Formats: sequence, C-alpha cells, structure tokens
Amino acid sequence: MTEPLVVLKDVNKHFGDLHVLKDINMEIGKGEVVVVIGPSGSGKSTLCRAINRLETIESGTITIDGKTLPEEGKALAQLRADVGMVFQSFNLFAHKSILDNVTLGPIKVRKQKKDAAEKRAMELLERVGVAHQAEKFPAQLSGGQQQRVAIARSLAMDPKVMLFDEPTSALDPEMINEVLDVMVGLAKDGMTMIVVTHEMGFARKAANRVVFMADGQIVEQSTPEDFFTNPKSDRAKDFLAKILTH
Ligand SMILES: Nc1ncnc2c1ncn2[C@@H]1O[C@H](COP(=O)(O)OP(=O)(O)OP(=O)(O)O)[C@@H](O)[C@H]1O
Ligand SMILES: [Mg+2]
Repeated sequence: MTEPLVVLKDVNKHFGDLHVLKDINMEIGKGEVVVVIGPSGSGKSTLCRAINRLETIESGTITIDGKTLPEEGKALAQLRADVGMVFQSFNLFAHKSILDNVTLGPIKVRKQKKDAAEKRAMELLERVGVAHQAEKFPAQLSGGQQQRVAIARSLAMDPKVMLFDEPTSALDPEMINEVLDVMVGLAKDGMTMIVVTHEMGFARKAANRVVFMADGQIVEQSTPEDFFTNPKSDRAKDFLAKILTH
C-alpha cells in the first residue's frame, strides 16, 4: 500500500451499553478507494462520523495525514476541513444559490477571496455537470443534481479524503448512476475515498478494497472481485445472499 493517509488504531465507541465500534484497525492509503459494506446497524455511519469527529471515540486513535484528530478547537476545524463528507441527504442550504452553497466554506473557512472561490466553484460545478444551474436554489434541482452539488461543495474545500455515507440511497433509480459516475471519476483522478454503499457496480469499478463490517467489527476485507465472488465468513455470505436477491 502507498503511504497511509487515514489510520485508525484500536478505535472503540459505545452508545450507552451498545458497543458500536469494536477495536477497529484500518489504514487507507493515499489515492485508495475503500468501500465499506455491511448490515444495517453494523456501525458504518458511526465509523465515518468518527473519522470526521462528528462523533467522539472512547479509546484508540484516528490520524489524518499523520496528524491525530484533536478533541475540539481550531485545529479540529482545520483537520475536519481536510475530510470531505457527503451524506445520504444532501444538506444543501435551502436559502442559498447553488454557487453560494459551494463558495461558502472556501470563503469562511479557507479565507479565499470571493472571485477566486467563485471561479473554482464554477469549475467544480462544471466537473459534476451542473454549472448551468449555478444561480438556482437547491429545491429547483433534482435529487441527483443536488447530490452532485454536495460533492462539488465538499471538493471546493480541497479535502485530502472524501467520505461518502450511502450517497445514492435516497435517490430515484434513474439518478443513481449520474452520481456514481461522478464518484468513479473522482476515484480515477486519485482521490482518497471511503464509501459506504451497497452499489456493487461502483465497488467493482472503482474500489481497491471492500471492508465488510458486522456488529461493530471489521469481519473481512479483500478486493471487490474476491469479496463478491468468494466471501469467507458466514456473515458476509448471508449478507450478500440478501442483497443479491433484491
Ligand atoms: N446517536 C446515537 N445514539 C444511540 N445509538 C446510536 C446513535 N447512532 C447510532 N446508534 C446505534 O449504533 C449502531 C450503529 O449505527 P450506525 O448508524 O453506525 O449503523 P450503520 O451501519 O450505518 O447502519 P445503516 O446501514 O442502517 O445506515 C446502531 O445500533 C444504531 O442504532
Ligand atoms: Mg448508516
């Protein structure tokens, strides 16, 4: 593997009595694309949120590009800006134009000049195929277009790694591919990505590795080809049998 960009060591997290992350150890190399897959409640979202410090952890360490995530404060804001996150719900600011949604972070957090931020935002909107909608408001766009804007907004912060938590599961079927295509493009351009998704087509096309989680643990990991055709654990076999029949 190339130099690790994200490293989790012995990470543990509880919600009350529920042990949701159990001694998670994981390294994601620069430019690596990791798909995280597993049953509902297995801890996939919590893992993403912990990497972005939207959730605290009780023990273990998480480092991004060699720096341990601080608990809070300015340093945390900076490090968090290095980690782009795209959720199932697009979370765009409803009362701001598409362009303003994309320039807000760069201007406020990265202290970019408005002109420079807008120029870059337009390039990114072009890249995700919604530049012609820049002056519109989120509600005037389809779900697939809004999710592509959400990706552009994350990219505008020049993140070192992008996290995606089921980015297509709230979309109508005909919009799923337009979002996945943007993600495949990002992967090909060398972005480091952690993607929670059950889209096997994406995993096969873009992932270097599939990590299968169940009950807060990493149960097995391998290449997409190997995982989908030859899962080792009973839990992975059960899980695949369920998603393949749908
Ligand atoms: N804020 C919270 N408070 C209490 N329990 C929580 C909280 N967030 C998640 N949980 C619980 O932690 C466990 C892991 O949740 P998580 O959302 O990480 O699972 P997931 O793998 O993302 O599931 P899904 O596929 O349904 O999105 C679940 O049992 C969930 O109910
Ligand atoms: Mg989840």
